[in-house]
Amino acid sequence: MSVPILEVRGVKKLFGGVAAVNGVDMAIEPGSITAVIGPNGAGKTSLFNVVAGFEEPTDGTIEFQGEEVTGSQPWQIAKKGLVRSFQTPTGFPALSVWENLMVGGSGARHESLWAGLAGGWRREEVATNQRARRLLEDLDLWEMRDTLLADLPPGDVKLVDFARQLMAEPVMLLLDEPASGVDPGSIHRLSGLIRHVRDQGVTVLVIDHNIGFVVGIADQIHVMSLGKVISSGSPTQVVKDPTVIEIYLGRSA
Ligand SMILES: Nc1ncnc2c1ncn2[C@@H]1O[C@H](COP(=O)(O)OP(=O)(O)OP(=O)(O)O)[C@@H](O)[C@H]1O
Ligand SMILES: [Mg+2]
Repeated sequence: MSVPILEVRGVKKLFGGVAAVNGVDMAIEPGSITAVIGPNGAGKTSLFNVVAGFEEPTDGTIEFQGEEVTGSQPWQIAKKGLVRSFQTPTGFPALSVWENLMVGGSGARHESLWAGLAGGWRREEVATNQRARRLLEDLDLWEMRDTLLADLPPGDVKLVDFARQLMAEPVMLLLDEPASGVDPGSIHRLSGLIRHVRDQGVTVLVIDHNIGFVVGIADQIHVMSLGKVISSGSPTQVVKDPTVIEIYLGRSA
């Protein structure tokens, strides 16, 4: 494995007596799609919260691109290009789909004051608009561009949320259940876009309960249960692991 883009070492997160994350080590290969699966309450979202700076770990360290980010603020981590989604995204309900993407694009890492002063602002704006149009077309949301986010079905809100994250030109994406509530046809489009983004060099760490979706996109899967990683490997390895089968299907299976 090349030098990991994200390295999680010995991370714990206690909430009172509950160990939501209980000693997780994870090294993520740059340019890969890695999935984290596991039953409800396994600690998947808590792990994301700690990695993205939304919660401080009780113990352990997190390195992103070779730099320790443990305890950094979410905005500091996002500025480094590590962008996360939320399990239940709200976006900006009172804005249109198009405006939601523009909000995402306004934080793009390449934008600088100097580009504006040098007359590059117009070029930036054109590039931002083209990027938004491409994303909406890829996700089959172009026709909905003037619809308010509040008027979209929850599955489409998820897709807009994903597109908005991509507008920020992330180095690495943390996606918390991007496929939940999304209809099967759109999941297919979402999978294609996640692969496309990976092929362009963006590293993706994704949580989801939809095993078909996860197996279809992931290079590597980590299975969490009760705050720990209990199995890791390629999708084919993990779905054959008796420990994983037992967790998902119970002892009688
Ligand atoms: N802010 C919090 N305060 C107290 N307990 C919490 C908090 N956040 C999470 N927990 C607890 O930590 C454990 C792990 O929760 P977490 O949300 O990380 O699981 P998950 O794997 O994302 O589950 P799901 O698949 O349902 O989203 C659960 O027992 C949960 O109740
Ligand atoms: Mg969760």
